[in-house]
Amino acid sequence: MHKLLLDLPNQIETDRLYLRSYEAGDGSWYYSMSQKNKSHLARFEAGNAVMTINNLEEAEIVVRNFAASWIARQAFFMGVFHKATDEFVAQIYVGVVNWDLPEFEIGYFANQEYEGQGYVTEATKAALEFCFLHLGAHRVRLECDDANTRSYRVADQCGMVREGHLRENKKNPDGTISGTLLYGLLRSEFTAHKP
Ligand SMILES: CC(C)(COP(=O)(O)OP(=O)(O)OC[C@H]1O[C@@H](n2cnc3c(N)ncnc32)[C@H](O)[C@@H]1OP(=O)(O)O)[C@@H](O)C(=O)NCCC(=O)NCCS
Repeated sequence: MHKLLLDLPNQIETDRLYLRSYEAGDGSWYYSMSQKNKSHLARFEAGNAVMTINNLEEAEIVVRNFAASWIARQAFFMGVFHKATDEFVAQIYVGVVNWDLPEFEIGYFANQEYEGQGYVTEATKAALEFCFLHLGAHRVRLECDDANTRSYRVADQCGMVREGHLRENKKNPDGTISGTLLYGLLRSEFTAHKP
């Protein structure tokens, strides 16, 4: 099916959370969230759009770009919110690797004050379902720094398979050198583990 004809849910629910696409007007809370999270994201998410935001207008442009990418099926950025409080707890990114296979990639960050409560794992499992059930993924991949213990624990907890380890392949801004872990999950593996 052509990607523009896919009927995608704008909201997905889990036990504690809901994930939704961004929309015009999200910029105001996204701005304050971005300012609180810059140091938290600096080490492993230096290229994240959050790091570019310096005022309310820039935040609104970022969320409208997310919304536009969703409609164009270029990338799927989802805000993750707590059902009980509507507080933003995390962001999940689903990127398109290619529509041919199709293959997608997942990225995430936790709103720092909600780290360590299992929210990212819960949301990532839902994002994997989104990839396989709604986008028709054959394969989903994830990459993370081998020093990012919290990140690879999420991938492990979601049942993703560690497929490779590029050792000492990048130099960090602080001069340290680290490697890259490669994870993947195939449609057959996802289906086999679904109850
Ligand atoms: C990587 C990152 C997203 C992981 O977030 P996280 O909060 O550790 O992940 P989760 O929300 O799944 O929480 C897992 C933790 O919650 C704990 N937890 C507490 N209550 C829980 C519950 N009800 N259910 C499941 N886990 C629970 C788990 O034991 C686990 O803790 P542990 O790692 O100490 O064992 C976060 O550290 C982050 O934003 N880092 C900066 C950005 C980044 O690195 N992004 C990834 C780039 S690849």
